Amino acid sequence: MSPSATPGSAYPVDRIREDFPILREEVRGHRIAYLDNAASSQKPLSVLDAVEDVYHHGYANIHRGVHVLAERATAHYERSRRRMAAFIGSGSADEVIFVRGTTEGLNLAASCLGRHVLREGDEVLLTEMEHHSNIVPWQMVAGPVGARVLAAPVTDAGELDLDAFAALLSDRTRIVSVVHISNALGTVNPVRKIVRMAKERGAYVVVDGAQAAPHHPIRVRELGCDFYALSGHKMYGPSGIGVLWGRRELLEAIPPWQGGGEMIERVRFDRTTYAPPPAKFEAGTPNIAGPVGLAAAADYLEGVGLEAVAAHERTVREYAEERLGDVPGLRILGAADEKAAVVSFVLEDAHPHDLGTVLDHAGVAVRTGHHCAQPLMDRFQVPATVRASFGLYNTTAEVDRLVAGIEAALEIFRP
Ligand code: ALA
Repeated sequence: MSPSATPGSAYPVDRIREDFPILREEVRGHRIAYLDNAASSQKPLSVLDAVEDVYHHGYANIHRGVHVLAERATAHYERSRRRMAAFIGSGSADEVIFVRGTTEGLNLAASCLGRHVLREGDEVLLTEMEHHSNIVPWQMVAGPVGARVLAAPVTDAGELDLDAFAALLSDRTRIVSVVHISNALGTVNPVRKIVRMAKERGAYVVVDGAQAAPHHPIRVRELGCDFYALSGHKMYGPSGIGVLWGRRELLEAIPPWQGGGEMIERVRFDRTTYAPPPAKFEAGTPNIAGPVGLAAAADYLEGVGLEAVAAHERTVREYAEERLGDVPGLRILGAADEKAAVVSFVLEDAHPHDLGTVLDHAGVAVRTGHHCAQPLMDRFQVPATVRASFGLYNTTAEVDRLVAGIEAALEIFRP
């Protein structure tokens, strides 16, 4: 059971932290301040227990056996699918495909939708703030058929330039694929509006929801998109499991993803027919315990309350922006009106990697690098940034440790 944040009462961050055993660890002689949640989040006991329980009491291959353990494992797996359908606001569990994570989900969408619709001269419209996993798969499918991949620009504040996006939309645009929340800047994109604009041109819309799932309630049907991908490991679930949601009629129309066991209806050497979705897209033995852990993570997040989580993270992020804004020579990238729990910054006189190393010695974990968003780094003319990203268990005291670590680093880097 997660400690719920009831309206009107203080957010129970101390109780939440107790659910995450790793937060009690010491690294390099300091209690860990884990500020790298956009890369991957830590796991509550309920998720660890749920996964362990599968292996202790209900593990076998799924959809294949008639014995008790197979039935138990299949029931847990399919219950988890229904749980995730509810978590993302899908009307049907048949629209939930279990994948390795957002990267695999986007590769699946790009490959299967791309093969279905893209022809020479067509265009796929992205944005400059996409993660590589929402760029490269489109290049891989568009290139061979002579379709083009375009990117709508980002403003100095790190927001999508909607006028430029509208100007790039045309009758050639067959697919629009956008990130819901930027991993590098924290910008929350107006997905509903983007979907409406794309649909007016008859384009399909794919959404990369990797960074949204841990912070925002997701309602895929209300967004109106065609595909939505998320990762378990960023929303306090296990790694190696995620969801690709797709509209049922589209899942039926597009070709399958990988070939193998369980994705078929009938195999002959002259012709194979395929199982209906979602099995059509889940060839081979899947991650069997992962979905159970993911469903437990959904329970945990909703138990605390996504609105309460978002409000808490906003407080922590705004505090971080205020304190970091006072550090001389520090520049924050991304000042979108709608922003999630990410603060990306560069510091004069210090390379992000060096700063990250000094912070690590103070027990503060941040990510440094290009964040798999090199076109966005090019847009801001920086090779890399330091990124502090917050989760439901972070505190303003941890932000103070981040700032103290940067100030100590300045003593080293500045003559
Ligand atoms: N996409 C993950 C990040 O932003 C790994 O760090």
